[in-house]
Parts: sequence; C-alpha cells; structure tokens
Amino acid sequence: MVKYWEIETEIEKGYLYIMCGIVGYVGEKNVAEVLTKGLSSLEYRGYDSSGVALLADGKTKVYKAEGKLQNLKDLLATKESEIKTANVGIGHIRWATHGVPSIKNAHPHTCNCGKLAVVHNGIIENFKELRAKLEAKGCVFQSETDTETVAHLVAQKYNEVKDLKEAVRLATKELEGAYALCIIHQDVPNTIIATRRNAPLLIGVGEGENFAASDVPAIIEYTKKAIYLDDNQVAILKADSIQIFDADNNEVKQKVELLPWEPIALSKMGYKHFMLKEIHEQPDVIRNFLSGKLHSATEPIKLDEVKLDKLKLKNLNRIQVVACGTSLHAALVGKYIIEELCEIPVDVEASSEYIYRKTVTDEHTLVIGVSQSGETADTLTAVKQSKARGSHILIITNRPDSAMAREADSLVPVNAGIEVSVAATKSYVAQLMAFYALALHLAEIKESADKDEIQTIKNELLLLPQKIELLLSKTDKIQKCARMYSSSKNFIFIARGINYATALEGALKLKEISYINATGYPAGELKHGPIAMLDETLPVLSIMMSGKVYEKILSNAQESKARNARMIALTDSTDEKLDELFDYVLNVPHVHELISPIMAIVPLQLLAYHIAEFLGKDVDQPRNLAKSVTVE
Ligand code: F6R
Repeated sequence: MVKYWEIETEIEKGYLYIMCGIVGYVGEKNVAEVLTKGLSSLEYRGYDSSGVALLADGKTKVYKAEGKLQNLKDLLATKESEIKTANVGIGHIRWATHGVPSIKNAHPHTCNCGKLAVVHNGIIENFKELRAKLEAKGCVFQSETDTETVAHLVAQKYNEVKDLKEAVRLATKELEGAYALCIIHQDVPNTIIATRRNAPLLIGVGEGENFAASDVPAIIEYTKKAIYLDDNQVAILKADSIQIFDADNNEVKQKVELLPWEPIALSKMGYKHFMLKEIHEQPDVIRNFLSGKLHSATEPIKLDEVKLDKLKLKNLNRIQVVACGTSLHAALVGKYIIEELCEIPVDVEASSEYIYRKTVTDEHTLVIGVSQSGETADTLTAVKQSKARGSHILIITNRPDSAMAREADSLVPVNAGIEVSVAATKSYVAQLMAFYALALHLAEIKESADKDEIQTIKNELLLLPQKIELLLSKTDKIQKCARMYSSSKNFIFIARGINYATALEGALKLKEISYINATGYPAGELKHGPIAMLDETLPVLSIMMSGKVYEKILSNAQESKARNARMIALTDSTDEKLDELFDYVLNVPHVHELISPIMAIVPLQLLAYHIAEFLGKDVDQPRNLAKSVTVE
C-alpha cells in the first residue's frame, strides 16, 4: 500500500497518475474520431500525453503522443488507412505530477504479445509486488507505470480462463488501490471490458453503439443515457448489448439514468475561453440556484435537500466543513454566515489536513463536504471518516452523480452546469449560494436571527443576479487594470471579516492561471510581518466592501500607501476620497455586507482572467493543474 507519507516519494518516481481521462467506444462511427473528440472534452482532467488502442483488421493497434492532444490527432491523421476498419477502441489522456511524460509511460499499455490493451485512471497501490511476481513469470515491462501490471495480469488470467470478462474480474481481485479500466483484446472482437473501484467511470448507452468514459462530456454529444458502474462491477460492452456483473460474477440489473447535461453547455458560446464564459454565466447560476427555493423575501427559504429533522437541527452543537482549494474558500464564507445567523460553531478545515489527525466528530456534529467535482479524494476520505463516526453528512456539490454525492445523507446540488475551465468560478458562486441557503434555513428553524435581517438578506440575494449583470456589462476598467499590473511578479490581496475568504480566492485565481505569486491576508495581519515586503513594485489590492470593517481596512490600506505600495481598491463605496489613496479603484454595485463575497469575487475572477489572457497563458488549462483530483 502507498501510505500518505510515501506519496511524495511515489510522485517523484513518476508513478502516480492522478486524474487522467478515459474513453471507450464500440460501434460503427469513426472510432478514432469518437475517441479523440471524447478525450478533447476530458482535457480538463489532465493533458501531458495521450493515446488510443483500436482493433482494426483483426489486430490491436496502439498510437501514443506526448504533449497536447493535437499531437495524437495529427498522428492519427497520418494513419487513416491503417485504422479505417476499426469498430472498437479505447483512449486515454494522462496527467502526471512529476517525471517526464513520455510515449513509453503514456497509455494504452499492452501485454507482451501486444494483443491486449488497457487504459487506466487511478493508482494500483500494490503494483510493485505484482510487478515482481509478473516479472518472475517472464513478463517484460516496457514502462515504469503501475498500469502496465494490469495489462500483464489480465493477459495472464485470459490465457488461463479464455474469457476476457472473467480474466478482468479475477485480475482486479488482486489489485489494491483505485482504478477505472477499459480493456480490449484482439482475440475478443467488438468488445470492451470496463470496470472500476474508487475512480469514476460511466457507460454511455447508445443505439447500436456503446461508450465508456471518465466523465459525461466525453459522451454527451452521442447519448444522454448512462449507467454508473458501482465499485467492483465489470461490464461487457458490445455495439448492441451491455452486460454487467458484480464481483461474485452474478449478472446485475442495469440502472439507466438520464444525463442532465446539454451538449451546448460544452461550447464556448462565442467567448474566447471557457473561464470567461463561466464567469458571465454567474447571474444565471444564482437565478437557477434560487429557483424553487426562494421566490420572495417574505417566504421561508425551501431547502428540502436537508434531511435532518427540525429537532436534530435545533440540537446541532457543531458543524464541521471539509473541502479543498476554491471549495475551502466557499466554506470559509459559509462559516462566517452560519455563525452570524445561526449561533452554531463552525470549523472549516482543508480535507488533506483533516484526514490525518484525530478529529472529534460524533452524531451531534453535522459534517459538510464541499466539492465542485464530488470526486476530490481528500474530501471524499474526510467525509467517509466522519460518516463512520455517525455524523450526518451534507454534501454541497456541482456533481450529484459523483462519488461524494453517494455518501450524502443530505445532498445539496448547486446546479452550476458543467464547469470546463480548470479554474473554478461559477461553481464557487454556486457553492456560496448553497451556504447562504443553508444558513437562512437553519436560522429560520432555530429562530436565531433577527427576522428583518433575514428578510434583507433574502431580498439582496434575489437582486444579486441583476447587479452582477450590471458589473459584467462594464469591464473596461478591470481590463485596463489587468494590463497595468500584468508585469508584477507578486501580488497581495487584503480584506477583513467575511471577505477574508474573497482575498484568498482572488489570490488563488491569479496564481493558478497567470502563475504570478499572489497571497491573501487578513488586512490586520499585514503589520505582523508581510508589510516588510511592501515597496513601490508590489501591488496591494484592498477589498473594501461597505460594512462594519470598512473603516478598519481603510486604515490598513493607508499603512500600505505609507510603504509606497501600488494601491488597488475593490469597493462598493462611492467615496471620492478613495481616488486620492488608490492608483486604481474597481467599483462594484453596492450590496449588503453579508452578501458581498459573491459580488466581490467577480471582478477578481475577471482581473485574474485578463492578466493571464494578456500574458498569453493557457487560461482554461493552466499548467500542472487538473479539474478533479482523484487521489489523495
Ligand atoms: C481552483 C480549483 C481547485 C479546486 C480544488 C477542489 O480554481 O479549481 O482549487 O477548488 O481542487 O476541487 P473540488 O471542488 O472539485 O473538490
């Protein structure tokens, strides 16, 4: 087993293949085209090399390329005559954290006779032991990957049992760790064997054709019907049939679900990047979230998704929120608003810290997992640990079809629509909306907040989409500011109170897509160290939304001015004096202080976007990042 403290070393050896994307197709369409199109839509999962294996003219043919997917497409374009008869194939895009991505290590991997090919997402934790055993039996390994052990192991079982599904079922019993696998074999024409454990894989159900994929975008153009495989199930896909077996080889009934996505959701709709499109979708994301939950400020908020009864809600003594990255920042806003309105203590912790220490949660603790993808391994583990201790699990996610959603006692889907850009934007705003809805719901049940204040917040939430639309209709100043500061090597974001999380999120957006070193600080902390860094080269962006800490942050900003920092303000105040203190004032429409994180993040997303765009960075697919992080 790879232990968490060994992961770094494993990564250094290049063994860990995080995220990755898989597509499989059997049918009459151009197989190479279906596979590469599918892989294109999974590029957000990772993209340092790619490959496909097809059965054509009775032979298994494998093609791989390093770098961008276009390199694989170019390669396949030169092989048209070799692959035109193919009617089954599997494809993979790989993302490794360390070690040079190479053709040798790219998937698909094959057994020694080259007849069997496999693509894999996940980690085979006991691959070293398996590899040693297989080598002792004469298998010759071509790569350093854990995946190649699967190819040899399944091939060996196939030679014994002469049944590919059975070979996969028996081989996977020997695997430890996480995997989604698609396997083809030259002696088993027109067939893909697909299986999974703790890694996402779905089967797309077509007419005279079938698909397998890591995620919905890879198949949505062809079918809206899907089957989600359970852990350890093995599927046999042929063009005209699907059979699914459990780990004990019993055939299981198939549950076909209708996918919620529209193909249009995957187009850029005229925007230069998905990120920009997704930023502009935010007003509708808010409307969408509120529909069915809040129609007028005078009605109670409807949050039927929370399955705890009133008595249990009233008796909650603690809330623990676990999340990573942007979702963690949404949780920090959630803490503020729940504590403000509901008088329940809320702890927020990075899932990766939470899972390796003794945490104290019990049946009186509500544990909230927040995740756009619903697949983030650290958060999933944190949630499972808390569930085992008897806590009620509430999941806030954009993917109600995810592994995390399946752990939920209460599931709050945020319905932001598919988010393609690696940098999270609209899903953040949707997560914030979920926290506001939850806080209002709890406050109404507990009667813990002033009724007028609750009504004001509801009113503000209902007005928010139009106000954000107004902001999005005039972005020239943000673009100008982006150009002005794009050459900065460092950036500081300061804020206080509920917008401290906004400073963290603004800094995260900037660093992940522009690679500029950016840090968010609580403004009061500036003078306890960071102020030493300030000089005339360093931009300090002060988030100054009206409310109880406005004056405080104004004086913190003055401390920065006195150290000659380059001064940027983000504010809903119309105070003209700000023009004297700041070089740049980014104005946003006025909102209630408690709602201000939703308004304030939008210009920061745009600032990060325009800086990265101006610097010519790969905005939607920043280096070293992937959309869902499915290993710890
Ligand atoms: C930042 C970003 C990441 C994710 C983090 C958690 O833009 O996208 O920081 O927020 O990897 O992912 P989820 O929310 O899918 O659990």
